[in-house]
Amino acid sequence: MSTPSPQTLSWPAALPSAARTRLENILVGLPEHRRTTFALRTARWWDDLLEGLAPYPQPADVAERVLELAAAAYRDRDEELHLLDERRSLEPDWFQRPGVVGYAAYAERLAPEGSGLAGVADRVDHLKDLGVTYLHLMPLLRPRPAPNDGGYAVADYRQVRADLGTMADLRELATTLRGEGISLCLDLVLNHVAREHPWAEAARAGDEHYRRYFHVYPDRTVPDAYERTLPEVFPDFAPGNFTWDEELEGWVWTTFNSYQWDLAWENPDVFCELADVILFLANQGVEVLRLDAIAFLWKRMGTVCQNEPEVHQLTQALRAVARIAAPAVIFKAEAIVGPNEVVHYLGQGRHHGKVSDLAYHNSLMVQIWSMLASRDSRLSTHALGRFPAVPSTTAWITYLRCHDDIGWAIDDADASAVMVQGWRHRRFLSEYYSGEFDGSPAEGLVFQHNPATDDKRISGSAASLAGLGSALAALEAAFDEVGVEEAAVLVDRAVARVLLGYAVIHGFGGIPVIWSGDEIAALNDDAWADTPEHADDNRWAHRPRLDWGRVLQAREDPGSAPGRVLAGMRQLAHVRAGLPHLHASVPAEVVASPDPGIFAVLRRHPVGPLLGLYNITETPRQVPAWWLSELGLAPEQTIDALNGYPPNLEADGSIYLSTYQPVWLVRP
Ligand code: GLC
Repeated sequence: MSTPSPQTLSWPAALPSAARTRLENILVGLPEHRRTTFALRTARWWDDLLEGLAPYPQPADVAERVLELAAAAYRDRDEELHLLDERRSLEPDWFQRPGVVGYAAYAERLAPEGSGLAGVADRVDHLKDLGVTYLHLMPLLRPRPAPNDGGYAVADYRQVRADLGTMADLRELATTLRGEGISLCLDLVLNHVAREHPWAEAARAGDEHYRRYFHVYPDRTVPDAYERTLPEVFPDFAPGNFTWDEELEGWVWTTFNSYQWDLAWENPDVFCELADVILFLANQGVEVLRLDAIAFLWKRMGTVCQNEPEVHQLTQALRAVARIAAPAVIFKAEAIVGPNEVVHYLGQGRHHGKVSDLAYHNSLMVQIWSMLASRDSRLSTHALGRFPAVPSTTAWITYLRCHDDIGWAIDDADASAVMVQGWRHRRFLSEYYSGEFDGSPAEGLVFQHNPATDDKRISGSAASLAGLGSALAALEAAFDEVGVEEAAVLVDRAVARVLLGYAVIHGFGGIPVIWSGDEIAALNDDAWADTPEHADDNRWAHRPRLDWGRVLQAREDPGSAPGRVLAGMRQLAHVRAGLPHLHASVPAEVVASPDPGIFAVLRRHPVGPLLGLYNITETPRQVPAWWLSELGLAPEQTIDALNGYPPNLEADGSIYLSTYQPVWLVRP
């Protein structure tokens, strides 16, 4: 094997020769084509990297440091993963395709009890039955002892939680999943570490180097100045954004819980550490990294300290590092922020195509629940209709529920545009979903009531929020035939609401992600508070263990509520996979339907339009023929892709939609 001279590899022109030599020394044992590839990729992404590091005083120095980390990770990357890198480079739209469906779960709540990571593989058949090709396993790296915010307080990024297994088990699981066509997604908690993380421990022990990994203040002067403009994430159980630490002898920044210490990203050492963690996880076979709480990384006095421009710059730099060493890896931004801010996480302006590939569509989720409560699509159509365009190389994560609560992110200006008062509607939604509102069938729980803003977020499973629990209770309590019939209608409606919500997220474009349990209409876990460290956090109500008995029941009894939901979900994924219209590169246009009881999403793909119509009410609705023609669809020349048949046409040519019916109109 020949050792190449610095001239033979095409490094970026700006990379000093000493840096080239250091990189080549790291790569020295690799075959020539591998070294060539690394240099080519470095040259390709160098500008992105350097530009992204602009927040630091010496960007080029940081770039050189991080490239050495990338070279080492590249050198150590498995053959199979190198191959995956090549495959993904040949199909860069792999995550945008209509056949991609996600599923999110806690490993220990998905796998058979006590079986750890290995047991997750036992659920592959179930996942494949749902069309799943992407699995997000909730935090599983070693956290601090409980409480640890469901694992979001990481004490060691390089170890798996002992009760789940080892890093070797994680690698094996990633390989098994990949073999089955499922990409593994893991959280990268990069805004904070646990108070018990070695960096925080060293800081507490007085190590100055590590103290600079955190935002520490000797007294309240600076914290108070920041607090003037900072919101509170957990006003109930973690008020304020700073925590006094005796050992540290200072106030440390803790946006979330007092034991989650925010990292000081203005310190380039922190950047290099986290870049190295990304490379490490990439080499375990993780394909998607969920950038947890990414909005909070950069702090600026006088602001809410979210969505600062540096966040996007640093993400761009991290993305460049990953692209150099492990291009199979993509990023998913968890930024639960407003429409004008969230689009930046997918890359706007000079970050176009250079930051995260995926981002949660929180607004869509909120709007679906809002429409189901109000039976009116006007606010949602207005709010979603004004969403700025996102790059055609990215995709939304669409979802109905996840492990978190629902915050009523209804914008005041959107609301007043349709003659609704924002605060009033938000209050209505909280009251509706907590079941307080007269006639509401929902059984959610109020999470983090903030008396200062009167915000009341909501916890609860999709089925419970859709009213399945109360409907089943009514069925059980019914004592005559009429009562049974009435209650059965309520059950039907609840099932239909869950399926309608899932139809919207499958028909929007992007990756629909099923929250574990939703596929079998799991209700709230009544015993959520029995685990002492969960008792003050009712988000655990909608994080139950996957009830395998119920999965089996759903399979065996397709007429039961879980059975109907499971069959419906399967069907959605199956149909979706065959519709090129749903490729994420095509934007979703939310269009105003003549009937506010119908929510409409149009996708203009070169193969033809797909019009998703969703009856968000419990009464039948009609869509006039003239309106469909205006959108380029002649009713009598379309089929409903969801069932393969022509839509139900009325005598005047309008399309009939039954209670909560979704329709995906396409040209046959
Ligand atoms: C994200 C997670 C949430 C967690 C928080 C802090 O928002 O989704 O569950 O509490 O980050 O890590």
